[in-house]
Amino acid sequence: MPNRPAPTDPFDLVVFGGTGDLTYRKLLPALYHREPVGHICEDARIIAVSRRQLTDEEYREWAGKAICEHVKDVDQDALGRFLKRIQYVSVDVAQNTGWEALEEKLAGREDVIRAFYLSVSPDFFGPICSALGEHNLVTEKSRVTIEKPIGKDGTSAHEVNETVGSVFKEHQIFRIDHYLGKETVQNLMALRFANVLFEPLWNSAHIDHVQITVAETLGVESRAGYYDTAGALRDMVQNHLLQLLCLVAMEAPESMAPDSVRDEKLKVLKALRRMTPEMVERNTVRGQYRSGASAGGAVRGYLEELGNDTSTTETFVAAKVDIANWRWANVPFYLRTGKRLASRVSEITIQFKDVPHSIFLPDAGRIAANKLVIRLQPDEGVKMQVMIKDPGPGSMRLREVPLDMTFAEAFNARHPDAYERLIMDMIRGNQTLFMRRDEVEAAWAWIDPILSHWSHVKESPKPYTSGTWGPSSSIALIERDGRTWHDESD
Ligand code: BG6
Repeated sequence: MPNRPAPTDPFDLVVFGGTGDLTYRKLLPALYHREPVGHICEDARIIAVSRRQLTDEEYREWAGKAICEHVKDVDQDALGRFLKRIQYVSVDVAQNTGWEALEEKLAGREDVIRAFYLSVSPDFFGPICSALGEHNLVTEKSRVTIEKPIGKDGTSAHEVNETVGSVFKEHQIFRIDHYLGKETVQNLMALRFANVLFEPLWNSAHIDHVQITVAETLGVESRAGYYDTAGALRDMVQNHLLQLLCLVAMEAPESMAPDSVRDEKLKVLKALRRMTPEMVERNTVRGQYRSGASAGGAVRGYLEELGNDTSTTETFVAAKVDIANWRWANVPFYLRTGKRLASRVSEITIQFKDVPHSIFLPDAGRIAANKLVIRLQPDEGVKMQVMIKDPGPGSMRLREVPLDMTFAEAFNARHPDAYERLIMDMIRGNQTLFMRRDEVEAAWAWIDPILSHWSHVKESPKPYTSGTWGPSSSIALIERDGRTWHDESD
């Protein structure tokens, strides 16, 4: 039986950036999905805010289009109910006008949950929070969600946190990292902490190394303007990849309570070995895609997409990361992420050590070390590579086979989008899957020396052809340690 969640308490969800791309592609479809299952209580409103002058009806039409484009099998009754919840208010944040209309809209509902979602450029986080404060729109039951990037380095992240923190208390601030809302990412916690099997092996005595790959086939497309100021290290590694690393590496929290989990993640971030300039040279690789073939067609290179042939922004990063603590001493974590790679795949590979001694004759074949592959997307699942005896008569021959648990086959259930869970958690006030201020700042403290060395040496990223696995130096990064990137087709 599918899990039917209890309805939320009454709420007003105010979405700044109401006509933006994220709202269209992710937020509206995610919210709609919670309607037919009865997760959104009757007395809940969604108030979209943006600069444009639109009527409620015009906005609802746009929202309906977003949902029909991004949701399979839309239930028309549920869609009708959902659209009725939506209202639209025009506020020009840059000009600081229109706030009275929002005040009016929210008046008289001070006792219901008031959730602000800032799906806008981070430059507006400060002005929006200050205006919400000045107009007395922040109530006891208010909370605010901010999207990454939170800053572009440690100093600017600190400033963003200070500004938002001057209006909202930390327990009201929800810093979203949508990777934490992915079903399989949470499954990682279930796998580690709801089984007794893995914990005794989960350390440097038994694990050789860990790989985390988040590969995309898409290029930067319409986001080139933002992306060129960020690059893969800020866009993906500072948040998504480091969060995944934390979930693999952290100690068992005392409970799923937000601060128990976040305290443990913070310890991992603090234990990341800071890179000296020499280590950055040796242990990181940055690349930039050139034209090639990707996702079934010819594609342009990054510089052509951007229309600027001098950009040195990286669209690919690989790094060898050390965690300086007892559990992970001498167990490198290899991270890699990039755009326009050979396939879209996000996975974590836990590579165990070789058996200490083989009792088999050499002609039994090679004993491959065990490997646990946690596939986050697509085809979510967990695969454990084990050795077995090749069935049949004759001499003993060994064979590597996967114990395969592909979730789509195991559970005939739709995987909710990360935003569905995260928005509902935010409404309920559960911060477990959101980043705390000190986590964000600790992640930057590790990233900053890399950024600083890269900007100091002023070298261009290594070019790679679209549709490949990145620059050859990324392969060299792992192979010089006698290891290889996990390849599904191996
Ligand atoms: C976003 C990045 O946070 O994550 C994008 O800004 C990236 O550049 C995206 O494409 C990847 O998310 P997903 O869920 O498609 O893996």
